[in-house]
Amino acid sequence: MRSLVFAVGVAALSGCTAPPLAMPDAAEGAVLFADNCTACHDYRGTGSSALVGGQAAPDLTGLAARNGGTFARVEVLSVMDGFGQGAHTPRVMPEFGALLGGDPVPVEVEGVFTPTPRALAALLFYLESIQVD
Ligand code: HEC
Repeated sequence: MRSLVFAVGVAALSGCTAPPLAMPDAAEGAVLFADNCTACHDYRGTGSSALVGGQAAPDLTGLAARNGGTFARVEVLSVMDGFGQGAHTPRVMPEFGALLGGDPVPVEVEGVFTPTPRALAALLFYLESIQVD
């Protein structure tokens, strides 16, 4: 902690402002997934047969396979984005609201860099990393 304060102090003194934008990676998403998603989608993301609101949580390692081999970022993002708004089965999940906040990072979606909340981007990269054929 002390070294962090020191580093920030040095950065401020040297006139250094915003750090370069660091993109989240799959490992960051794995932590978020463990905290928010595994109750229904299993810790491996392979889904569960237990019904939630009358539906089983699908296997998230097969998103690409079920879509002809393509991981459809735009659709996966919209499912996750809708989570807080009731589009995704768990209608009330307040802690998920935090995932939609934070500074956006540019994520390439269908060839266009789209500002995306950092946590959603991290989850997206994690889901992409666990796809199996
Ligand atoms: C309370 C249980 C529950 C939690 C928690 C949950 N999900 Fe889901 N999820 C479901 C169910 C049920 C479905 C299928 C019906 C639907 O889409 O609403 C689903 C569907 C999905 C889909 C679409 C799958 C497909 O085949 O199109 C994605 C992507 C997804 N969830 C990601 C996540 C992520 C990422 C998290 C954590 C941030 C999460 N889910 C947390 C129950 C849950």
